[in-house]
Formats: sequence, structure tokens, C-alpha cells
Amino acid sequence: MTLSVNTTSPDTEPRTETPERTPLKRSVLMCSPRHFTVVYRINPWMNPALPTDTSRAVRQWQVLYDTYIGLGYDVQLIDPIAGLPDMVYAANGGFVIDNIAYGAKFTHPERQPEGPAYMEWFGDNGFDVREPEQVNEGEGDFLLVGDVILAGTGFRSDSNSHQELAAVTGREVITLRLVDPRFYHLDTAIAVLDPAVGAGQAGNGEIAYLPSAFDEASRAILEERYPDAIIATDEDATVLGLNSYSDGYNVIIASRARDFERQLRERGFNPIGVDLSELLLGGGGVKCCTLELRR
Ligand code: ARG
Repeated sequence: MTLSVNTTSPDTEPRTETPERTPLKRSVLMCSPRHFTVVYRINPWMNPALPTDTSRAVRQWQVLYDTYIGLGYDVQLIDPIAGLPDMVYAANGGFVIDNIAYGAKFTHPERQPEGPAYMEWFGDNGFDVREPEQVNEGEGDFLLVGDVILAGTGFRSDSNSHQELAAVTGREVITLRLVDPRFYHLDTAIAVLDPAVGAGQAGNGEIAYLPSAFDEASRAILEERYPDAIIATDEDATVLGLNSYSDGYNVIIASRARDFERQLRERGFNPIGVDLSELLLGGGGVKCCTLELRR
């Protein structure tokens, strides 16, 4: 018997070559879940009758924080405010690009005080704060992919905020309509995988998404713009697997999103699983806890 070493037979060769991935240094804002609990219900994941364990939430969140630090990210913290249990979901605090911080204006009264709190932080930290007129929930519904901003509507952010965001940032904003109440924010239905695109790279950018979370017109837009996108399984999406954070190489995902993990690995990414099961009780995951600061 002959053992062949280092030879690849044509039929086992991958279809396309796995691209080389380079991590980008990230700067993010987070908020400790010190006051996290579920006392109201503004999305189908939340059930005030189910007990939450705040110290467990803090421990799980700490792992995410430590993961980012370990990857060399710059992690900023905003002080959590008692009585605002959802403040841990920092992604909703605004949308930051080119040092401009477009503030959030929350849909539900329970979260409305978070808008000014985050804007104050942005102002204190040298960002050019733009107060919103339109209802919007920040990076929960706005995702920068390459040079364009994908913007969600249907449950939270008003589509008028998409125009406002385009005017404030000077970027192209593409409206996508969400239709499944479980995926009420865009960042629960789309994962941005290569933030470097646009910085001199070709292509529209790589994403992963759950088609059934969108109406038909939005699905058509996604298919056309991102023909090579990863299509998430329903199973992975329902553990908020798409609610992940990528630096272009490392992708921090829900550890339970097994198929997504496999697909990422296949494409040359380095998926890192974390367990935020406690924060899932509020309807949020990795990305929800992470607001990108683009100076
Ligand atoms: N309980 C929060 C809400 O319903 C969860 C927010 C999750 N954040 C996100 N970016 N998807 O508003």
C-alpha cells in the first residue's frame, strides 16, 4: 500500500480557494449587565415570569469582554443605569461612523431613557453627536457592510430614520424589511463578516443571513447583492447565532450555533463560541452587547 503525502486529488480539492483572512483591530463600546433582568416584554424572547440570574449574566458577559480584550480590541465601557435592564445591549445605543454618533430614539418607552444616556457618553468621549428625530435603535438595525449601510425596519426602527441616517452619514442606506417577530432587529437576522471591505477591497462584502426573516423584496435585494452569502439554518438563527461580531477573521458567535460555526470555518474564518444564554432571555446575543466605535 502506498501512502500519498501532500498530494491533492482533483475531486477532493475545494471548489474555491479559502481566502486569507486578516483581523482588523476593533474599537467597541459595551455596558455591564449589572442591572440586567427581564421585567417587561418587548420582544418574543422576553418573559417576565421566567427568573433571570443577574450574576450569571455578568459572568457570561465578562467572558465576551475578556474575549475582545484577548483579541486586542479597544473596549470602552458605559456605566449601566439602574432601572434600565436592557442597557447591556449597547448595539442599540446609536450608530457611529467617521466619528459621527447618530443617536438612538427607542420605540418602547421602557428603553427611551437609554437614548440620551448613550448620547451623553458619545459627547463626553469626543464624538460628534447627532440627535435623531426619527425612531431608530442604532446598530441593532444599522449594519455597515462595505460602503453601504443595511438598515432594518418592520419592528423597531422607522424607515424614515434610514433617510435621516443617509443624510447624517452621507452613505448609501438600503432598507430591508423584517417580518418575523423573533428577529425584530436587523442584527438578529444578518451577520457582517468582513468589515474591511470598502477599505480598498473589491466586492460588496460578505454576510450571513436568515432569508425567512425578510419580506420578499428584501430577500431579492440580499440575493442580488450577496450571492455568496452564508445562509443560516433556522436552528442557528433561533439561538441568535447570527447576532455575532467579526473582525474579518475572528467571528465571535453563540457557542450553540454549530452549523454556522462549521460554515465559518469552511470559509477561512475563526469562529469563537461564547455562551450568553442568560442575555438570550432578554432577546439579545453577542452583537447586541457590542457597539462599534468608528472614529
Ligand atoms: N430586550 C432588548 C429589546 O428588546 C434586546 C435588544 C437586543 N439588541 C439587539 N441589538 N438586537 O430591545
